This record gives sequence, C-alpha cells and structure tokens, in this order.
Amino acid sequence: MIIRPAAEVLFEKELHALAKADKGQKPANWKLSPGAVVDYIIGGKVGKLTIEPKYIGQRRLIEVAVASLATDRALLLSGIPGTAKTWLSEHLAAAISGDSSLLVQGTAGLLEESLRYGWNYAMLIAKGPSKEAMVPSPVLSAMENGKIVRVEELSRITADVQDALITILSEKTIPIPELNEQIQAKEGFNLIATANDRDKGINEMSSALKRRFNTVNMPLPQSLDEEVEIIRFRVEKLGRVIGIPDKKSTDQRIKQLVLVFKELREGVTSEGDLKLKSPDTTLSTAEAISVMINAQALSGYFGKDGISDRDMASSMIPAIVKNKDKDLSVWREYLEKVMRKRKDFKGLYEACEEEVRSLYL
Ligand SMILES: Nc1ncnc2c1ncn2[C@@H]1O[C@H](COP(=O)(O)OP(=O)(O)OP(=O)(O)O)[C@@H](O)[C@H]1O
Ligand SMILES: [Mg+2]
Repeated sequence: MIIRPAAEVLFEKELHALAKADKGQKPANWKLSPGAVVDYIIGGKVGKLTIEPKYIGQRRLIEVAVASLATDRALLLSGIPGTAKTWLSEHLAAAISGDSSLLVQGTAGLLEESLRYGWNYAMLIAKGPSKEAMVPSPVLSAMENGKIVRVEELSRITADVQDALITILSEKTIPIPELNEQIQAKEGFNLIATANDRDKGINEMSSALKRRFNTVNMPLPQSLDEEVEIIRFRVEKLGRVIGIPDKKSTDQRIKQLVLVFKELREGVTSEGDLKLKSPDTTLSTAEAISVMINAQALSGYFGKDGISDRDMASSMIPAIVKNKDKDLSVWREYLEKVMRKRKDFKGLYEACEEEVRSLYL
C-alpha cells in the first residue's frame, strides 16, 4: 500500500459521484463546475454518498479561491505555516484538473528552468535542439494540457526566478527561442502558489508578479471549537492511514492542547486576565495535529488505557520548546503562572514539570 496516495486517487469515488451529479457550468477543461469543486472541498452529500470535508472553515473563502481560478488570474494562498495552504491547493488541483501531481517545490536554489524547461543533454548533443530533447517543467506540462500547476513556497524562490512567472501568467506562453517556437497555454491552465509570510529566508514578491495573483489569506481557526474539530478529524484520518493501534484520542486531550496552543500563540490567557510571552515558533493547527498523532503513537505502542498525561507532555514540549534559549523560559512561565492554577490540568502540569526537569534542567 502506498503511504500517501494523491488526493484524486484517495477521493476518486467522491470526485466521480460529484462529476456525475454535476449540473453546473464547467469552465473549459475543468472536471467539475466551480460549485461542485467547493462541495468537494467543504464536504456534503451527493445522493447517498457523504463527501468528506477536506477544509474546515468558511465556505466563502473557498468560493473566492475557486472563482479566481476560473478567471485568468492565478491564485496565491498566503498565511502562516500550518493553515492548510498546501493541503487546499492539492485538493483544488485534484478537483479541477483531476491531477494534483504537477508541482514545483520552491527552494532558494531553484533555477528558472524548473519553471520553464530544461534539456536532456545526451539527446541535445546527439540530435541538436528538438522537442524530444526538451524536458518540460510541471508549469509547461500544465500549459500544454490545460491543467492546474502548483508552486509550493513561492516566497522561498529568489525574486528574479519568481519573475519568470510574470510572462507565463500574463502572456500564457513560454517562448522557446532554441526551437524558434512558443508554447501556448490551453484553456484550463492556471497556477496555485502557496507562500508563508512568517518564515525566515523569504523573498518579497515583485509588485509586477503580485498583480498577477488573487491573494487569499488563510486564517487560523476562528474559535477553540473549530480548531478542536479540525484536529479531531485529521487525527482520526491520519491515525488510520499510518496504522496506529486504534485508541481513540479523547476530546478532552485535544481540547487541553488547543487551549494551551491558543493561549501561547495569542500571548494572553483565555480569561483575558494575564499577558503571556509567546514562543518563537508558530503553534499552528498543523503542529497540534502532529502532537496528537505523536501522543497517540506513544500511548498506542507503549501505554495502556488511552493517551496519558505523560504521553501528552512528551509530545507537546518539543513542539513548543524548539529554541531552548528563548522558548524554555516562556514555557516554564506558562506552566507556573497558568497551568498550575487550573484544577483540570493538574495531571498534565505535573507531567510537563517532570518532563522539563528531565529534559532541560
Ligand atoms: N482549516 C483546516 N481544515 C482542514 N485541515 C486543516 C486546517 N488547517 C490545518 N489543517 C491541516 O493541517 C495540516 C498541514 O497543513 P499544510 O501542510 O497544508 O499547511 P501549510 O499552510 O502548507 O503550511 P506551511 O506554510 O508550513 O507549508 C494538514 O494536514 C491539514 O489537513
Ligand atoms: Mg505548505
């Protein structure tokens, strides 16, 4: 079994059912109408089949994203780490093009040819420049086939290489001077970029490039309950995929974790009566999901009777204290000033105290 099948494979049944029932008007080369794409992302029902929600949050946000892809403007999903930018872009590509595999991973070392085309040098030397000797980038393949291409972490790419996208997005062509021709994008081609605005080592986009995008800012979950819901849902799914012994993580644990993360992230207690310092790392929903999966693995393989306070402590401390010099004092302050005073956190407080002592002191 494959560890992580592509979205269009994993949700083939849902996509098929949605396509069959789809009465909406489809933009050229789209597999589904915009309305059906939104249903696929937000979830719902088609006949008897339940469409699982992929993104938990505002429907309007997804409508805006999908509408933008139906125009000639590209879509930029921006926001802090762990707000489901990558996740959403994969599902959008799967629903719109039936193919989420056209992907460029942005890195600082990325060269322009990864956005345009390269050459198979053995063939180039043997036969000279020809279409066969050309190695198309995912962007070029998407243009030729009228599909969605994804550019991950756009802001990690150096600014001059990023700018190669300007002509692609405005002219919808890639000139190939070596062959004296140009490749023109088919209808259905568009681009989804993700960028996070918080990390170190990111490059500002030029305003010329920015103008080619509709930007959707991915928000953190609006409420405690919404965040609990996202985590519960994802942990259940992921737990199944990685085959961890099925001990249901209790809602209680998720709620505790979400509260701690939220308070640390916002720098204030939920009662609003105490200002706190925040650790350096962004304590995102994605991070909370990893903590819960980790705690579940610890309890599933080595514990009994579900997730213990110690499992939680061992899993959450490394997520919060990433930089010992800065974060440890923040965390200890939180333990003493907040967690210690809460009756229902007694067990967790003690486990965290002990873990901190054995790890760092
Ligand atoms: N609102 C949400 N609905 C559903 N899943 C969510 C939501 N927010 C976060 N997640 C989950 O968080 C996990 C990580 O998301 P993802 O990797 O897409 O984040 P990202 O925004 O691309 O982060 P980064 O900037 O670090 O690349 C995914 O498993 C996703 O399911
Ligand atoms: Mg990402």
